[in-house]
Amino acid sequence: MLKIMNVSHEYDNEIILHDISLTIESKTFTVITGESGSGKSTLLSIISTLLKPTKGEIFFDGKASREISDINMFRNQKIGFIFQFHYLISHLNVHENIAMVTKRSRSEIKELLDKLDISHLSAKYPDQISGGQRQRVAIARAMINRPEFIFADEPTGNLDSKNSKIVFDLLRELDATVIVATHALSRILPSDRVIKLKDGKLC
Ligand SMILES: Nc1ncnc2c1ncn2[C@@H]1O[C@H](COP(=O)(O)OP(=O)(O)O)[C@@H](O)[C@H]1O
Ligand SMILES: [Mg+2]
Repeated sequence: MLKIMNVSHEYDNEIILHDISLTIESKTFTVITGESGSGKSTLLSIISTLLKPTKGEIFFDGKASREISDINMFRNQKIGFIFQFHYLISHLNVHENIAMVTKRSRSEIKELLDKLDISHLSAKYPDQISGGQRQRVAIARAMINRPEFIFADEPTGNLDSKNSKIVFDLLRELDATVIVATHALSRILPSDRVIKLKDGKLC
């Protein structure tokens, strides 16, 4: 379980997030939405340990993130990140982009790529595949070490609607606690848990 307790954040003395408290159950899918500038990325960065809040605390299964002794190891082992831009390495092929972050075997990587319907692209380089396929490779890279948590910031910000739907459907099916920040309201389903931000406040 993930607990966000009384989180506030300021940039340059301007309050960006106002006293946010939330509980997110394990292995659930949650969408953080709101207009551009409402604080989605800031909140997701705080939840995912990339940014320390000005006030408040995040608890991972009861443990305060400030008290995790090796936060880099914690991130490596427990968290998968997906961003708007895929950050694949252009000089490595699809297989190698994933292999570089994991000790898992070639066949385990292939199995995951099969699931994401991109295993036929293993030997291709990022600029030889489509934007939607690149984002699926980025998802595979985030998932390969089977993290407990997957955090995605505008993962479909660069994709057309067909590929956006594919990416959202994949994220919903992951066996992890998944939190996605997006302004793409059209991708949200009635069954999704939605956290709406307006001017840095929950609404
Ligand atoms: N590094 C930063 N320094 C100063 N202000 C920032 C920084 N990052 C974001 N902000 C401001 O915080 C507010 C919320 O931004 P952000 O969390 O990126 O919102 P969203 O992801 O919903 O568009 C905006 O007003 C933005 O200008
Ligand atoms: Mg953002």
